Amino acid sequence: MKSLSFSLALGFGSTLVYSAPSPSSGWQAPGPNDVRAPCPMLNTLANHGFLPHDGKGITVNKTIDALGSALNIDANLSTLLFGFAATTNPQPNATFFDLDHLSRHNILEHDASLSRQDSYFGPADVFNEAVFNQTKSFWTGDIIDVQMAANARIVRLLTSNLTNPEYSLSDLGSAFSIGESAAYIGILGDKKSATVPKSWVEYLFENERLPYELGFKRPNDPFTTDDLGDLSTQIINAQHFPQSPGKVEKRGDTRCPYGYH
Ligand code: HEM
Repeated sequence: MKSLSFSLALGFGSTLVYSAPSPSSGWQAPGPNDVRAPCPMLNTLANHGFLPHDGKGITVNKTIDALGSALNIDANLSTLLFGFAATTNPQPNATFFDLDHLSRHNILEHDASLSRQDSYFGPADVFNEAVFNQTKSFWTGDIIDVQMAANARIVRLLTSNLTNPEYSLSDLGSAFSIGESAAYIGILGDKKSATVPKSWVEYLFENERLPYELGFKRPNDPFTTDDLGDLSTQIINAQHFPQSPGKVEKRGDTRCPYGYH
């Protein structure tokens, strides 16, 4: 009886719970009817079949299963991320999202991405080599650390700010942008040392494929919301913006050092 109810539970569960495939099930480039996102990792998971290969109808269970089985992201963080993703579905109170919903500008998709152009300049969902070359030039070692990640992000922010007449970044967009840098370090790499091999990150962005052949393995330790928060704080603490030009006053002690005022 015990085993019957166990197998009933399994049988019943299998119609409700999406079971994500293993990495050995391979990788396939998206076809003409498949949709993709501005997120290199979600695209990667769809290419491997952890998420539906067509990129459509992604529910909370599919998100939890895919992020858990591919990357050992815990269910709480997966649920949190799913909640944000569902808000990009044009249907109100949607219980799923399609990957291309995530491209809707200024919901989650934001300016100053690491590998996508700003939507002002053209499609912001697809990989852009020129943008990514700028990002890569600030990953100055074989191992990317927090400082390199922070530098690359700030340079992208400044570049967009100076070149895009419609540049904007909401508080949520900003939090996502910081979280994305934290994520490629801590989820692809090692959350404890806060480092990741540059070759793995470049491989992910450029191929939208997990870098198994370079040595990447699903981490043993689950990645949690606290881990993401901790790494995001490290990124913020490593940020250096240009020094404020200060106030130039015509009277008083603070004088323009060049003698113009
Ligand atoms: C349900 C889960 C997820 C959602 C809803 C999501 C959503 C997004 C969105 C909307 C963007 C585009 C932001 C932009 O405009 O640049 C993005 C970018 C990004 N995501 Fe995800 N993401 C998820 C999971 C992950 C995971 C697990 C990783 C782990 C590495 C990740 C890494 C990144 C990175 C590195 C970028 C930056 C791409 C760039 O700046 O070019 N994401 N994500």
